[in-house]
Amino acid sequence: MQLGGPSWEVSLGRRDSLNASKEAAEVSLPEPTFNLSDLAVNFWAQGLSFRDMVALSGAHTIGMARCTTFRDHIYNDSDIEPSFARSLQQFCPPRGHDDVLAPLDLRTPAQFDNSYYVNLVNYKGLLHSDQELFHGDSADPIVRNYADEPAVFLDDFAKGMIKMGEIKPLTGSAGEIRKFCGKVN
Ligand code: HEM
Repeated sequence: MQLGGPSWEVSLGRRDSLNASKEAAEVSLPEPTFNLSDLAVNFWAQGLSFRDMVALSGAHTIGMARCTTFRDHIYNDSDIEPSFARSLQQFCPPRGHDDVLAPLDLRTPAQFDNSYYVNLVNYKGLLHSDQELFHGDSADPIVRNYADEPAVFLDDFAKGMIKMGEIKPLTGSAGEIRKFCGKVN
């Protein structure tokens, strides 16, 4: 909301874990090196549809990524606008400076809008996995639709967030219902 994004009603009463595990999280998280079918399988494994995947990726309308996560894309991929690649290469060299940051959405990095998709149709996706959503494959029509119709994106994003909040909750006496969602009671 603060950055202009959609709002949705968050269901209450989810049982969450009492501890966090980096290793366990990394088993399921998608990688920036993934291709379109890797991404689809990864989301599908969590009960999320192809459309959910395209819509939720629009979270990359805000935030930053480290050089190490997009280096291969800006040096080795061909589905990237050349002047965009060159501008990133200025501060993300072939080696070193791994932690230098670039905005995931170069147009409006601090606004939650549909610019992420406008970037993709112009081949200005920052991550390899971002541009996978628009490079002559089955996600292209959804990306074009979100680039043309911001309201459709915002609506689908909110629906996707609700579905994501319903992934594999703990049941019975496992875990706890948190008083504050970001920390254990
Ligand atoms: C489609 C598969 C996805 C991949 C491969 C992916 C990958 C990444 C990577 C590599 C970064 C940069 C992290 C870093 O440099 O340390 C990032 C940042 C981010 N991602 Fe994703 N992501 C995906 C989906 C999502 C989803 C579904 C959301 C939320 C709904 C999301 C929200 C974010 C946000 C907000 C940031 C910026 C974090 C910051 O600025 O601190 N991503 N993502």
